[in-house]
Amino acid sequence: AGTADLTGKRLLVTAGGTRERLDPVRFLTNDSSGKMGYAIAAAAQRAGADVTLITAPTKLPVPSGVTVVPIESTQDLADAVLTRLPAADGLVMAAAVADFQPIESADQKIKKTNANDELVLRLKKTPDILQAVAAQKRPDQVVVGFAAETQHLLENGRQKLTKKHLDLLAANDVSRADIGFNGDNNQVTFLFADGHNEQTPVTSKRAIATTLITHVAEIFNQK
Ligand code: C5P
Repeated sequence: AGTADLTGKRLLVTAGGTRERLDPVRFLTNDSSGKMGYAIAAAAQRAGADVTLITAPTKLPVPSGVTVVPIESTQDLADAVLTRLPAADGLVMAAAVADFQPIESADQKIKKTNANDELVLRLKKTPDILQAVAAQKRPDQVVVGFAAETQHLLENGRQKLTKKHLDLLAANDVSRADIGFNGDNNQVTFLFADGHNEQTPVTSKRAIATTLITHVAEIFNQK
């Protein structure tokens, strides 16, 4: 495969783990470092795309030449993605989105008292962003999802690809300690809409990001 060219393409990339607030000083989140999404934003930028990185809080430096939109919660992320989608050519949804959010978030810090030896948190499902994207996606737009699974990676990945009308899905086995969340290396299986799969070796997130962007460029060419 030659070098990917995304000149003139406007690409949205999401990254990091969303935060769901319990109170002003506490939140629920996950182990995502944001590294994979930042590497994808950088690879897309190197390929000539006009990149907007919509990111939950991370410890990472902002890739140069990329427009950054900071968000915290899944609802923030949904709003940021859906308002920008009509003007975009593509979306890579690498953010690790919380599946549940507190039904109520307290305005003041939740205090421990003699009366509350136990605290019950009630959670509700977060909005499914890719499902909302699927409902308004144009045929010329390329949408890429991720699937982090600890079992039945390929079966679950295929279901997600179909259900969310994705052009490409990168499936990640997060049960392995050597790859995935937080580390600098990863291994993914790319699931394509035509039914074929392609597994990468265990390699750097930078290399995987470059491969993903090459696939995105190929998919644009086929549209
Ligand atoms: O969490 P799950 O493995 O189902 O995520 C699959 C894909 O869907 C990922 O690309 C993730 O960013 C996206 N997602 C979403 N909205 C959610 C949960 C996940 O768009 N509420």
